[in-house]
Formats: sequence, C-alpha cells, structure tokens
Amino acid sequence: MENNRSSFGSNFGFLMAAIGSAVGLGNIWGFPYKMGRSGGFTFLLVYLLLAVFVGLIIMVSELALGRMTRMSPIDAYQAVSKKYKWIGWLAIAAPFLVMTFYAVLGGYVLQYMSLNLAELSFDLSNIYGQQITGAATFSAMLANPFGCFFFTLLFMLICMVIVMGGVSGGIERFNKIGMPALAAMLVVVIVRSLTLPNAAEGLKFMFVPGYAIKGGFIDQAPDLISVLGTAGGQMFFSLSLAMGAILTYGSYLGREENLVNNSITIVFADTVIAIMAGIAVIPAAVANGINNGIPVNEIALNGPKLLFVTLQDVFSHMGHAGPLFGLIFYLLVLLAAISSAISLMEAIGAHWIDKDLQAGKGDNRKKITINVSILITAAALIVAVDGLGSNHIHPAALLGIQGSVPDFIADWLDFMDCWSEGIAMPLGAMLMALMIGWERSPKLILDEVGHGNHSSFFAKFYTLCIRYVAPVVMAFVLAGQMIGFFGGPDILWYALSFAALAGFAFFTINGREKEE
Ligand code: PHE
Repeated sequence: MENNRSSFGSNFGFLMAAIGSAVGLGNIWGFPYKMGRSGGFTFLLVYLLLAVFVGLIIMVSELALGRMTRMSPIDAYQAVSKKYKWIGWLAIAAPFLVMTFYAVLGGYVLQYMSLNLAELSFDLSNIYGQQITGAATFSAMLANPFGCFFFTLLFMLICMVIVMGGVSGGIERFNKIGMPALAAMLVVVIVRSLTLPNAAEGLKFMFVPGYAIKGGFIDQAPDLISVLGTAGGQMFFSLSLAMGAILTYGSYLGREENLVNNSITIVFADTVIAIMAGIAVIPAAVANGINNGIPVNEIALNGPKLLFVTLQDVFSHMGHAGPLFGLIFYLLVLLAAISSAISLMEAIGAHWIDKDLQAGKGDNRKKITINVSILITAAALIVAVDGLGSNHIHPAALLGIQGSVPDFIADWLDFMDCWSEGIAMPLGAMLMALMIGWERSPKLILDEVGHGNHSSFFAKFYTLCIRYVAPVVMAFVLAGQMIGFFGGPDILWYALSFAALAGFAFFTINGREKEE
C-alpha cells in the first residue's frame, strides 16, 4: 500500500503546505483582535510561551504519529492506542465542522476582493453618489443569503479543484506559489499601514505593555487566567493542531526528513506571520479611526467587524489607491483561507482515499473529494444563510429563546465553532498528550523523530511537556473556551475541565501495560 499512497515531492513543498495550513484566518483576523482585546503585550508573551511549551510539542507529536503510521487520523489512532482509538473520529468531525464556517468566511473574503476589484475598475462612487462604508457593505452582504451562499460555493469549488489535484500535484503546488506570494503582499500592506498618520498609536497598543488601557482602547485588562485560555485556544487553532490536518500532512512526509526542525520552522513561521498580520491590520485600523475623529474605544478591533468593516473603511479612505490595497489585502487573506481549507479537506478525505487504496479499488481521490465537498457545502448552507445571526434563523431563534443568549446559539458560525474549536480541539489535544505520555510512552514519538536517546535535551524537554505541561494547559484552554461559548460562572467550567482531566488521567493510567 505504501507504494501508491501519496507523498510530498520535497521537504520544502511539505513546509509550504504545513505553513499554509497554519497560516489562515486565525492569523490575519483572530490574532490581531485577540491580542488587542487581551491587553496587547501580555497576550503576546503568554502566546509565545505556550507556542514553545505546548504548540511545538503537539506539532512534533502529530507529525510523528502521521509519519510513523502512514495513515489518516482515524486509522493512526486505532493503530497506536487501545484506550483512545476513537480520538481519530474527533479529528475528522472537528475539521468538518470548522469547514462549515471557514467556507462561508472564505466566501466573504471573495466578495470583498471582488468589490475592491470592481472599485478599481469602475468609479463606484459615481454610481452610488457617495463613498461606500465598510459597515454598509457588511450589513448589505449579510442580508443577502443568496450572494453569501453563492460565494461559499465558489470558495468550495476552488478548494475542491486543488485537493483533487493530489498531495504533490495540487496541495503542494498551490502552496509553493501561494505562501511566498502571501508573504510578499503582507509586506506591501504593512508598509502602507505604517505610513498612515497616527499609525504609531496602533503599534503602541500592540507592543507597549499596559498601553491598551492607558491609551483608552479598553477599560479593563482581562485577568491572567483568561489570557491563558484565549492565547492557548488561539495558538492551537492557528497552528492547525488537534484537527487531523497536521497528522495527515505528516503521513505524506518522507522518512528521512527532520520532524523537530520542521516543527520549529512551522511554529516560527506561523507566529511571525501572525505578528506581521497584526502590524498590517491594527495600526491601519487605529490610524484610520483617529484620523476620522472616532474615539479610540469605539474603533471596532474585535470580531468579524475588524476584517470586514474597519479595514474596508481604511481602504475607502485611502483615495484612489484604496481599492488597489484593498484588492491586495483581501487576495492575501483569500490565499491564507484556501491553504488552510485544503488541509482540513484533506484530513477528512484521506481516510476514505486510504481505504479504497487498501481494498485494491485504486485511487479514488477525485470522487471522494467531490463527495466531501458536497457534504461540507450542504452543511455550510445554514451558516451562509444565517448571516452571522442577522437573518433570524440562528439556533436561539429556532429554539424560541429570546433576549441575550450565550454565544454558542447566537449564530450558526459560533455554534459550529463551539463543538470544533471549543470542545473537540482542546479535548483531543489533552487526550493525545495523555495517550502518548501515559498510555504508550514519550519514547514512541522520540524514536520516530530520532531522539530515542533519552538523555538528549530535546528528549527531556519533550517528556516533561507531553506528560505534564500540555494536559494541564489544555484543561485551561478547554475552560476558557467553555466560558467564552456558554458564559459564566467561570469557576464551574474550571472545575469541570479539571475534573475531566483528572478522570481521563485516571482512565489512562489505570491498568496500563508498560511499554518497553
Ligand atoms: N490554522 C488555520 C487558521 O489559522 C485554521 C486551521 C485549523 C486549519 C485547523 C487547519 C486545521 O486559520
């Protein structure tokens, strides 16, 4: 079977694909606003620590599990664990749920790209008699379910064609061009952003400790524990961890490649791009707000508004060059979204592609990818039509619940996000760490990455993190996500998360057969 299973053409191609998976909407949109909301510099510091102590460790583990088994997530977990063979199913359900909203967001980005292209080609202000504001564009877009679904479909078609092209012929080829192009465009946008008057205020907000409050952006700093939850969740999503994607890509990587160095490169590149995206987005949004007389605490640096309202305003106020920068910006966001979406789709489809290969039915990648795409698009329909809750079909409305409702039923995007990013991801990572650290042995992974010698620094570091640091951090992340989606009381969610950790730890260690 190994002979006809797909693989990457080169280590560079693999790196571009894995970095492409990691660099996505999470970096360009989630990172900047979470950093802003969670007190700028503190968030950055916590994020970096978590990336090294947990992100890197889980990245190495997933790549090793994939490469060692040469299997897709479901089979890989079945092959290595008696107690946790079912985690693989989490790692296939989660990417499916993520895709149901990722595709819709990709569709939004396509719409904004088209809008800026149209403005560049025609002077739309002559038609509308006034400048089109970001807020007006955004609400008009959300109120048009047909348009949103159409662009979701278009986004899915683009991704489908790439995945149908195969691991090296489609995914690798797209990323080898797409990722360097994305980085170059990001630099162009950063230069424009930083040369706007008052851009320095935005930079201070990001990098000067305490400035978010001193400068009047937010009233109150979040406590350290909630920063830990937010930064941890963001870091995991941004690195594409615990969703099967990295494991699947690892299963296509050659035996001779260095997994530790590759993991360091991926984590480093993803973090640098996230910080660069912050520098591209936040100073521009802040500068534009100040220059137009908006009080700093009213500039929308939060949620979907940042990307689709605030930034579109930045481009609209830039004069003739605005639509050009708008086009470049939304194109780069599109590349980031596509390169992540295709890794999610690959993680889902790989299971069935492998199954057919093993059964001697040949390579059915094309057919399977089409089926996966149809299923995702069908489920994405409700997210697209929902318009972030603005069209009154959100879960709370369907359940007849009125008034202020917890986030997870406020709109379909959050509903899908809650089960995937909120629950499956932190839980999956926690269980994976327990599985490797306590059911099997860290040696399982260390042997695969060529550090079987327990005395090496990396072996010690890895063992410590996978056994103790990662499970505990994941309990904090799980609690943080629950608080965000379901609402307080915080103490309840901390208690539940740590009870879950204790329960699973007991389950793992109890009756364990020691591996030697
Ligand atoms: N890492 C991607 C982002 O930052 C999202 C993603 C998560 C992609 C999990 C694949 C797997 O947007």
